[in-house]
Amino acid sequence: MKRAKISVIGAGNVGATCAQYCAMAGLGDVVLLDIPQTGDMPKGKALDMAEAAPVLRFTANVTGTTDYADTANSDVIVVTAGIPRKPGMSRDDLLATNAKIVGSVGEQIAKTSPNAVVIVVSNPVDTMVQRMCDVTGFPHERVIGQAGVLDASRFCTFIAMELNVSVEDVNAMLLGGHGDSMVPLASCSSVGGIPVTQLISKERLDEIVQRARVGGGEIVNLLGTGSAYYAPAASSMKMVQAIVRDENRVLACVAYCDKEYEVGGYYVGVPVVLGDGGVKKIVSLQMTEEEKAMFAKSCEAVKTNVANMQKLV
Ligand code: NAI
Ligand code: 2OP
Repeated sequence: MKRAKISVIGAGNVGATCAQYCAMAGLGDVVLLDIPQTGDMPKGKALDMAEAAPVLRFTANVTGTTDYADTANSDVIVVTAGIPRKPGMSRDDLLATNAKIVGSVGEQIAKTSPNAVVIVVSNPVDTMVQRMCDVTGFPHERVIGQAGVLDASRFCTFIAMELNVSVEDVNAMLLGGHGDSMVPLASCSSVGGIPVTQLISKERLDEIVQRARVGGGEIVNLLGTGSAYYAPAASSMKMVQAIVRDENRVLACVAYCDKEYEVGGYYVGVPVVLGDGGVKKIVSLQMTEEEKAMFAKSCEAVKTNVANMQKLV
């Protein structure tokens, strides 16, 4: 069977780590691309990763480049190009700069990998996915964003810490935009199959939900420079895996919703069936009245951001 071709655009913290995780998981051959700068950073990082293969025993060609020709006909492309936030910044503060970067990346992708599934990571991600879709003209199911896998993973981590149980037994779902108004769904989260609402009091769960919502900011403040990358890269890798292995995983992804959840034609975080070709289905779920109100508020934040972006580009 032919190995999948996975390109990662932006060889910074998230991009390089995602490339490494994809290679280590044997998901396919990986091309790491960044803009030309002093030295040949993407080539250096890729060679360093390739030299880890004999020790870690994985089979994947990992190459670095500044030329989109080397990414041609990729099956999946992960876009991490852009600036990350600094302490005190929100994801929305990145809008103007990253809209330009993601736009230029999209133009290159459309020319060189017209059949790829594109996973956008660059922030503010819900808006950047829309930008990628507008620029490439790819169908909605092939342009998606990474947010929910990470946000749900953070929620799972905090639930596991609270109950002192293995994270492997915790499952969580999350909806809305990738901002502080995101909606971790306690009603759809469980530990060993037991609804989390039976294990943690409402007051304490509300605190955990709030920590998950601002989880990105917690890491930004701890790092002092840049934003999280291990968990974001792992989350992106899980999405790549679902696609190249046609796993039909049910994952929270930034996906285009029109009638679904009555969103009205925007990209927001919802559960989808993810496999070969991208989004196969958007999964409907029932929310409590409180969750519905939070979801509507989160969607409003995404709509405002998209309107702001459209004034800029
Ligand atoms: P970073 O600064 O470490 O890496 C970004 C890389 O993009 C740099 O190497 C830079 O040279 C490159 N780049 C800039 N313009 C480019 C272009 N036109 N073409 C190709 N490469 C280009 O930043 P980091 O930490 O990797 O974050 C990347 C982006 O991902 C940020 O916007 C960040 O906010 C976002 N992010 C999103 C998450 C999510 O869950 N959606 C989670 C974590 C980060
Ligand atoms: C995060 O949630 C910065 O969006 C990034 O860590």
